[in-house]
Amino acid sequence: MDDLGIARALHVIAVVMWIGGVAFVTMVLLPSIRRRGGADGHALFEALESPFARQARVTTLIAGLTGLYMIWRLDIWDRFVEPAYWWMHGMVLIWLLFTMMLFVFEPWFLHAWFRRKAEAAPEATMALIGRLHMVLITLSLIVVFGAVAGAHS
Ligand code: HEM
Repeated sequence: MDDLGIARALHVIAVVMWIGGVAFVTMVLLPSIRRRGGADGHALFEALESPFARQARVTTLIAGLTGLYMIWRLDIWDRFVEPAYWWMHGMVLIWLLFTMMLFVFEPWFLHAWFRRKAEAAPEATMALIGRLHMVLITLSLIVVFGAVAGAHS
């Protein structure tokens, strides 16, 4: 096993923990909280989701660093001008989206905005959070599909 194999394995572990966590939040946690009902749904969601957000900050960093290392090591920068490598753009796009959410938008204003919105309209806010997560997991899974199929064929 060489450095490239190790970088690839760490990249996949980071992606599994990160995107797997997003799948759990989207398909298990959010629907369960919404089914349970009650005005405190958003507070419960925040309490259960925030340890995952901390973990996701670490796993996005590892995925980004190992991904960049593989690009540098394989010297495959030219893929970014080839439409056939859409999944390379997809990976960077998903990474940027989550990095901005986790490190910038959420701590800066999104957290407080959702809290205020949840106080005024709890059910609608939880539905909106559910829809946003569904968009993120769908895009992430399309990119995972493209990356595995593209890297091995
Ligand atoms: C800055 C962010 C990222 C960079 C620079 C990056 C870069 C890379 C590179 C260079 C490869 C190897 C491609 C090859 O062997 O031809 C790779 C593989 C892969 N990446 Fe990323 N990636 C990033 C983020 C992501 C994200 C967000 C996901 C998931 C949504 C992801 C999922 C994967 C998967 C599943 C593979 C295939 C592993 C395999 O089967 O060998 N990556 N990535």
